[in-house]
Amino acid sequence: MSDGEPKVNVDGVPYRTIWCDEQGTVHAIDQRLLPFRFKVMRIDSLVAMAEAISTMAVRGAGLIGAATGYGMHLAAREAADRPSGQGTDLVAAAALLKATRPTAVNLAWAVRRQLQVLADIEDPQLRAAAARAEADAIADEDADSCRRIGEHGLGLLRQLHETTGRTVNVLTHCNAGWLAFVDHGTATAPIYAAHDAGIPVHVWVDETRPRNQGARLTAWELAQHGVPHTVVADNAGGHLMQRGQVDVVLVGSDRTTADGDVANKIGTYLKALAAQDTGVPFYAALPSSTIDWTMTDGVRSTPIEERDGREVTHMEGVGPDGSLIEVRLTPVSSPAANPGFDVTPGRLVTGLITEAGICAASAAGLAAQHPDLAGGS
Ligand code: MRU
Repeated sequence: MSDGEPKVNVDGVPYRTIWCDEQGTVHAIDQRLLPFRFKVMRIDSLVAMAEAISTMAVRGAGLIGAATGYGMHLAAREAADRPSGQGTDLVAAAALLKATRPTAVNLAWAVRRQLQVLADIEDPQLRAAAARAEADAIADEDADSCRRIGEHGLGLLRQLHETTGRTVNVLTHCNAGWLAFVDHGTATAPIYAAHDAGIPVHVWVDETRPRNQGARLTAWELAQHGVPHTVVADNAGGHLMQRGQVDVVLVGSDRTTADGDVANKIGTYLKALAAQDTGVPFYAALPSSTIDWTMTDGVRSTPIEERDGREVTHMEGVGPDGSLIEVRLTPVSSPAANPGFDVTPGRLVTGLITEAGICAASAAGLAAQHPDLAGGS
């Protein structure tokens, strides 16, 4: 875990979720097809990257940030390829990317980083080269942050194992795994680190309706890494906690406010309520790039993405012949609502695990751990 090498294997082959080749074409794992098919997409235009993010071919906080960084690289490359050196306006490119997933703060963060780096570079070729280098840096930093989150979280899981003397049961929601980042994941990073260190760990995987990121993605990547796990319906978590079958809840975050409120996949808040009622520790793991230092009171302030109701009314899977099929679940005449995220107030969060360590989910806790970032944008 600490060697910095790509952590994740797919059928034994090491992968990152996104990378860029020497020609500047971006490659990313298409998450819409998992776990049924493993396919790598080529993304070679700004518009294609925006579509990949909005259709959730690439998804998850850190990966969205990395994809956005590469989206800006593609935009700068398109401009440099035009005879006049003009063309795609980087501010327009930034706006296009930022509109794709409103809750994910890594998106705006990556755009801001690129615009800052590119602001004073006039020459289109130099600008394209700088955008590529910055995109690579964003991706590498995401992987490194996740690796360090794993190291900090490992201590927690080790302590739980030493206290109970038995397998550590973790419950997780959605996919905050390596698929949602560039490598390692956030909620999964301590799990992989513990598993690799020989600590017995078992994961309860919330299916995470409506898109089933838990059942489809988290289960797949845990299986690839050989981590014992069990998929449960979203509604099972409270019961498992009441029966003492969960030692810790570990989730990710798509935006954490400066005072420690955690926006994450819809349904996370209910798990935090159950955890508090049953005395189960509840941690959110996130790189500091996911902290929105300009926002407080996340319950009121966080923009919540409203997704297509079809994700609720329909479900996708494979039929008996292995082909991908979609079935309707609800009456044709029943409308559906589909808020993509909810916000767990910091008072329900035992701690935040970032690349810098573990801190209280509060303004004071975050500011003490990230004195260089707190108060900034
Ligand atoms: O699948 P998404 O992009 O809609 O969901 C975002 C997430 O991945 C989860 O909320 C996750 O737990 C946050 S950390 C990647």
